[in-house]
Amino acid sequence: MKFNPLSEKARRTEPPPISWLMSARLANPDLISLAAGFVDQDSLPTVDAFALCRTILEDIPRGQAALQYGTTIGLPTLRESILDRLTGEAGLAPDRQGLTPGHVVVTTGSQSLLYLVTGVLVDPGDVVIIGDPSYFVYMGILASVGADVRGVPVDENGMRIDALEGVIDQLREEGKLDRLKLIYVVSYFQNPSGLSLSLERRQALVRLAREVRDESPVFVLEDGAYRELNYSGPAISPIKAFDRDNDLVAYAGTFCKSFSAGLKTGYGLLPDLLLEPVLNEKGNLDFGSPNFNQCILDEAIRSGLYDRHVEKVRQSYQSKLGLACDALDEHMPDGVQWVEPQGGLYIWLMLPPAVNTGAKGELFRRATDHGVLYVPGEYCFYPEPDREKPKNCIRLSYGSESPDNVREGIRRLGQAITETLS
Ligand SMILES: Cc1ncc(COP(=O)(O)O)c(C=O)c1O
Repeated sequence: MKFNPLSEKARRTEPPPISWLMSARLANPDLISLAAGFVDQDSLPTVDAFALCRTILEDIPRGQAALQYGTTIGLPTLRESILDRLTGEAGLAPDRQGLTPGHVVVTTGSQSLLYLVTGVLVDPGDVVIIGDPSYFVYMGILASVGADVRGVPVDENGMRIDALEGVIDQLREEGKLDRLKLIYVVSYFQNPSGLSLSLERRQALVRLAREVRDESPVFVLEDGAYRELNYSGPAISPIKAFDRDNDLVAYAGTFCKSFSAGLKTGYGLLPDLLLEPVLNEKGNLDFGSPNFNQCILDEAIRSGLYDRHVEKVRQSYQSKLGLACDALDEHMPDGVQWVEPQGGLYIWLMLPPAVNTGAKGELFRRATDHGVLYVPGEYCFYPEPDREKPKNCIRLSYGSESPDNVREGIRRLGQAITETLS
């Protein structure tokens, strides 16, 4: 064709970096994949899902309503439950913060909430601050909207607030602070580091974002995808709990990790200013996420089945995390470092700086020869023009493989790393 018919947005949008990793596993079932962030197949609640569908469908009017279109904002009773849960276990104070179920929007997974919030705020050239490293699928959204992305290092207490202040000072110097739209934080058991933002930093982040509100239209986008996969850590309140007037923090949550990824249902708890734009945009996109799936989740929560399931899933992941960390202790050579997470699905390994973990490097080739896949850490750093991405990190996921395979996969990886180092 003589002309490129694609929009600028489509041209900025690239395939997700790890889709080829997923296909590598499918093409060769003998490979152990410590790469895919899938949930544990054996944990998925088929019996419960069957019972829930039956309860809904055997009541004919109820079943017919469930099989009808819903509304753009989502099922009212589910939105009430979501707010109740965030109030009870997570420490939100709706009365004080001015939150109602009308601020809860049900979406097709939390991914679509991240997409919608970013889309209603960010024009090409607007600034978004993210963790270094960060969730790479969100980086795809940022690339497609043409954001100017700045990374802030993450340590064992999450995003470093001193470094965040440094980036804000830098933006002020560049005269770009008025284009700072979002600070994106995966607040619990971050993908990929497995680590959470500490309580003190949650409060400091809100304080800092409020301070720069005079100079920038910034919002905080809190991604709480792994909040419920807490195995042994203290229950920390979300950043959203410190948003006293509900005007700063958009919170994204999901049922995909805790119950069923196949139901692909998530939600947002939104500040007033973002609520209508997000609903308008969602109206254009799909005018409502699958109603039947929302009815299943609503019934699961109301019947108590959801909580029982989450407890089971937590125990099973906790034991897998424990055996993964034991296997790392046993098989990783000196010089490989990690911090044991207290929840989520990921462990972040830091290798000696000389080792290139990238897909074209020696370690990756050796690891696949040994029959194990990992996510090269470089995918988790946004390509900023004037800095070299760290090349010596690895994201491991222990979610989807069986306990034996997790152990064996880590043994194989240890062998590949030992050979590469020697
Ligand atoms: C940090 C993070 N946020 C959001 C998502 C999106 O999850 P979903 O759209 O399935 O709710 C994921 C999925 O892996 C994730 O890791």
